[in-house]
Amino acid sequence: MPLSNGASRRRSSHHGRTGPRGVVLALAVPAVGLALTGGVPWQSSALDPQGPAARAIADLWWLLFWLGTAVFVVVMAVLAYAVLRRRAPDGVAGRANGNGFVLSGGLVMPAAILLVVFGFTLWTIARLAPSAAGAEVTVEVIGHQYWWEVRYPDHDVVTANEIHIPAGEPVDIRLVAGDVIHSFWVPELHGKMDLIPGQENVLRIEADAPGEYQGQCAEFCGVQHAFMVFLVIAQPPDEFAAWLTHQAQPAAQPADPLIQRGQQVYLSGACVYCHAIAGTSSNSPFGPGLTHIASRRTLAAGTVENNPGNLAGWIVDPQNIKPGNQMPGVNLSSEDLQALLAYLNSLE
Ligand code: CUA
Repeated sequence: MPLSNGASRRRSSHHGRTGPRGVVLALAVPAVGLALTGGVPWQSSALDPQGPAARAIADLWWLLFWLGTAVFVVVMAVLAYAVLRRRAPDGVAGRANGNGFVLSGGLVMPAAILLVVFGFTLWTIARLAPSAAGAEVTVEVIGHQYWWEVRYPDHDVVTANEIHIPAGEPVDIRLVAGDVIHSFWVPELHGKMDLIPGQENVLRIEADAPGEYQGQCAEFCGVQHAFMVFLVIAQPPDEFAAWLTHQAQPAAQPADPLIQRGQQVYLSGACVYCHAIAGTSSNSPFGPGLTHIASRRTLAAGTVENNPGNLAGWIVDPQNIKPGNQMPGVNLSSEDLQALLAYLNSLE
C-alpha cells in the first residue's frame, strides 16, 4: 500500500525516542479497522513528540511514569521486606517505629511527590499556553459527521481531511463543530481539543520538521467516528506557500473531450447538491469541496486511499465503504462514470 509505505518512510527519519511499544499501543486510539481497509494506518504516538506542545505533554507523561515506577518499586520492596523478615517480638518500641514509618511513608513522601507533580503540571500548562500574539497562519477546521472541513480564511482555500502547515512555525487551528461534538487530536503535535457546537476553540500546533502527522477524531461522534481521520502535512515554508497559491486557484476548464463530458455529468447530476468546485456553478457547502480533490491522499476522511478504483467505488456505493456516512450512491452508466472519474482525477 503506497500510502502507508510512503508515510512510514517519510516519518522514519525523525523517529527519535523509542519508547516502550506496549505502552504506546495501549495509548493509541483503536484504529485497527483503518489498517484492514487500506485507509491511513495508525502509526502516531503521543510519546513520539514532533513539536513543542507535544514535547511538553510527553515530558509530563514521562515524569508521571518514572515517579509511578519508583513508588511501585519502593512499595514492593517494603512489602517484600515485611513478608520475608523474621518476626520480631511484639513490643512498644516496634509500634513506635511503625508510627514514624506511617507518618513519613503515608504522609510526607506522598505530599512531596504530589507537590513535584503539581509544580511540573503548572509549568507544563504555562508551556502550552499560546503567546498573546496570533500565529502567522490560521486554519479553520470544522468537524462534520464524518469528515473534516479545512479552511484557510485569509487565502480563500477550502479543502478536506488534510491540513497543510509550514514546518517550524506556529499555526492556530480554530476548531468549530458543524453538527455534534468532535475532538481534534494529532498526538505527535499536541493534546486533544474538543470541537463544540456554538463555541470556537483554538489550538496552536507546530511541527519541528517537514513530515506527515496523523490526526484522529477523539470524541465518539457516531457510527463512523473511528473513520474520521485526517493528515497534518508540514512542508518547508516555500513549499507550503506554493501549495496555498495552487489551492486558491479555481479548477481549470477541461480541454479534453472525455473530461469535458465528465464535467457535464458532474454538473447535471446529484453531485452539485452537496459539493463545490470553484470555477464552476457547483458551490454547495454541505459536502467536502472538490476543487482540488485529485491532490488529496485519501477519500472519506482517511478511510481509503485516493485512487481511481476507490473513487469509483465511493461514487457508486459509498455506504459499502463507510456505512452511515452522508453520501448517497449515484447511479451512472459505465461511460458516464468513466467520464466523471476522468474529470475528478483531473482536478489536481
Ligand atoms: Cu468525529 Cu468522533
